[in-house]
Amino acid sequence: MRNVQVPLGDRSYTIKVGGGLLPRLGVECAQLQLGRRCAVITDSNVGKKFAKAALKSLSTSGFEPVLITVPAGEKSKRIAVVEQCYDQLAAQRLERKSFIVALGGGVVGDLAGFVAATYLRGIPFVQMPTTLLAQVDSSVGGKTGVNLRAGKNLVGAFYQPQMVLCDLDTLKTLPKREFISGLAEVIKYGVIYDAILFAQLERQLPKLLQRDAATLATVIARCCEIKADVVGQDETESGLRAILNFGHTIGHAIENSSGYGKFLHGEAISIGQVAAAQLSHKLLGLPSGETERIEKLFLQAGLPVKIKLNSARRKKLFAAMRLDKKVSGGEVKFVLAERLGKVVWGQPVPTTLIDGILDGLQ
Ligand code: NAD
Ligand code: GLY
Repeated sequence: MRNVQVPLGDRSYTIKVGGGLLPRLGVECAQLQLGRRCAVITDSNVGKKFAKAALKSLSTSGFEPVLITVPAGEKSKRIAVVEQCYDQLAAQRLERKSFIVALGGGVVGDLAGFVAATYLRGIPFVQMPTTLLAQVDSSVGGKTGVNLRAGKNLVGAFYQPQMVLCDLDTLKTLPKREFISGLAEVIKYGVIYDAILFAQLERQLPKLLQRDAATLATVIARCCEIKADVVGQDETESGLRAILNFGHTIGHAIENSSGYGKFLHGEAISIGQVAAAQLSHKLLGLPSGETERIEKLFLQAGLPVKIKLNSARRKKLFAAMRLDKKVSGGEVKFVLAERLGKVVWGQPVPTTLIDGILDGLQ
């Protein structure tokens, strides 16, 4: 088992990475001195596989858990579902000391985290992420929230969990496309923060794709360490934390303009990171050898690096980019790389240059 500490003063917490953590959920929660009553929030896919084990583990440790299951998919990240969760928590008489366990991928984590942040003005919660993306990214750092019709993640709160339990065994049932999508965030950590991790990924990609437990443990723990380091320095994204958005300016615009669901998040940010690497080459002199290594690693992982855009779709993509939270003063800002492992944020990029890069990605 590997432990990673997220250093946030009195809101610090531990991320545990290893096998066999789901059956230990109750024992782990018992160390946090929480109330007895709790709710496991999960989705319809994850619930079928893991809810029984989660409830059993909590009950065995003396907790009184109830189960709240939402439909699987991004559509559950909305205010109406938040309200349904509140109603069930109130009906089950969860109180201030009660807690929530978010059992699922990023959708469940963001939703359940937001419910925890706001029910009774905030009750504790524990993240039990079951997708690769959630284990290396969304369960760590306290960004919680839901979508509005106007855009993704437009309502939310920074609210840190009490603990994150990344059980590697849960990844065994993750569909291949979802697993590969999560690799896009893994590769991102190498590009933005750790050239040694990037080189390790180049060497060990076949083992990762086979979901080799030892390789997964090392890589997931390293990604969590990087995220913890960044969040520890800039919890609410006033500066440094923006580097985690490498590839997301174009990536989010791809997701948004193509209708959510066509591209998975990791697929969209794979294209976005390749575009950002090419912009970095042009604007910051990222060596062409490194730009090529970045594109090659995404390709070898089985992720898309190109996108077909007719003029109508290109228009929609630019409109989406301008709506993004990363736009300030009407200017589209990018995270760009100076070299592998070193990026800078808040870089204005002329739209003509973005247009040119997108031409090359056809
Ligand atoms: P997801 O939660 O929708 O999970 C993907 C699919 O896999 C779902 O159908 C789910 O039911 C299924 N699933 C989950 N775990 C499984 C398992 N172990 N076995 C079988 N099936 C399983 O998607 P995701 O990619 O985990 O998360 C995407 C969400 O995360 C987006 O809403 C995104 O905005 C959010 N996100 C948040 C942050 C943050 O910092 N809070 C960061 C990145 C992404
Ligand atoms: N996933 C980006 C962040 O947590 O800031």
